[in-house]
Amino acid sequence: MNVLLVGGGGREHAIAHKLSQSPSLDHLYVAPGNGGTARLPKCENVVIEAGQIDALVAFARKHIIDLTVVGPEAPLVAGIVDAFQAAGLRIFGPTRAAAQLEGSKAFSKQFMQRWNIPTGRAAIFDDFDAAMRYMRTLDQVPVVKASGLAAGKGVIVPSTIEAAANAVRAMLLDQRFGEAGATVLIEEKLRGPEVSVLAFCDGRRCTIMPTAQDHKRLLDGDRGPNTGGMGAFSPSALVTPELLQEIERTVLQPTLDGMAAEGVPYVGVLYAGLMLTAQGPRVLEFNCRLGDPETQVLLPLLESDLIELLNACIDGALDRVQPIWRKEAAVTVVMASEGYPDEYRSGLEIFGVDDAEATGCTVYHAGTRLKDGRLLTSGGRVLAVTATAPTVEQAAKRAYSGVQRIRFAGAQYRRDIGVALPPRTQTRPSRKPASRPRPTR
Ligand code: AMP
Ligand code: GLY
Repeated sequence: MNVLLVGGGGREHAIAHKLSQSPSLDHLYVAPGNGGTARLPKCENVVIEAGQIDALVAFARKHIIDLTVVGPEAPLVAGIVDAFQAAGLRIFGPTRAAAQLEGSKAFSKQFMQRWNIPTGRAAIFDDFDAAMRYMRTLDQVPVVKASGLAAGKGVIVPSTIEAAANAVRAMLLDQRFGEAGATVLIEEKLRGPEVSVLAFCDGRRCTIMPTAQDHKRLLDGDRGPNTGGMGAFSPSALVTPELLQEIERTVLQPTLDGMAAEGVPYVGVLYAGLMLTAQGPRVLEFNCRLGDPETQVLLPLLESDLIELLNACIDGALDRVQPIWRKEAAVTVVMASEGYPDEYRSGLEIFGVDDAEATGCTVYHAGTRLKDGRLLTSGGRVLAVTATAPTVEQAAKRAYSGVQRIRFAGAQYRRDIGVALPPRTQTRPSRKPASRPRPTR
């Protein structure tokens, strides 16, 4: 099989790494790929950006691609799956209409309200004055969200009502978030630890991956600014088997049922970002693809063939494959450029990746490129160093022994990935179905 993978970050290196182990793979093209995918066996980078949908369709036709896999959300939300399907090409991921679960937080919230999927109460506005009138009725400071894709920057968790009003003004009046902020959600602030539950979906059924937690803040102890993710671990000790069943029964399956009933069956990876509140799990957001850096801990635990699994999803035949996951833990530590998540320098030489891999770690490249045989930094997040072991604690130890062998000028990383932080609220792993969310406007 010839496979085309779209994207060029750490998630895509991890997907490429797993695809390259598939017995049915002949050749893998990655568009645009990075310095890590360039070095994988049977793998070749292609100079096409993930957003160039027409060029990707033309490439897939010309190179007789049997399967295309999409890493990032932007091309999915822009309709890459529809474009490939219209050209008669096989592709894994949700259609543009289905990808609205991530692409439009307004769509997603209203969908959850229609199908009683547990989520925070919210109201949706595109008119500033109406939003302000609503804000005055609240007795608690809300969370403000831009509805559209905002590269992880569209959620503001203010501490005062004035700051919340400023966030709404920045979105609706000052257009500081562009089109993404033309519609806003004003949402009830929830409390509790966060977990990610991802599932492969075939339009009707899903098969859940091991649970994961990511660390979004830049600094140890969950301090500092939000980032794309500084590390992740799997499994999450916060999710008991009973709680996972509850999440499947109250969140994932109703989402698949609802989407199918609305004529938009969901095929692809569905990622539920959940908060475990004292009242039970609540959906904070849906993503329409694998997480970054969650993929760097999840795919190393997948024993089964990924190509077979993706094909079963596309064929609506998940009942015929039972993916096998290693009963192990995995930790990934992101090494980032100095200055990230703001301005950073690129082109710095990276040393020690082979030494780190010699310790048993897998080093996934996020922002790297090869130039004249030298490996250089080329992004904010540069590498994700993953290790597996029987427990999260042991996996973290191994990952850090790999990290310590890698050097580039200004490298920054967190020292506490895989260390569960004390939950802000005691969670209750309940067996009861989560309560019906209160109706919203
Ligand atoms: P999202 O992109 O929707 O996952 O939001 C980004 C982050 O904002 C989440 O990981 C949470 O930490 C926080 N967040 C989102 N929604 C809420 C909420 N309703 N209450 C409290 N925190 C939230
Ligand atoms: N790790 C969060 C995300 O992929 O959106």
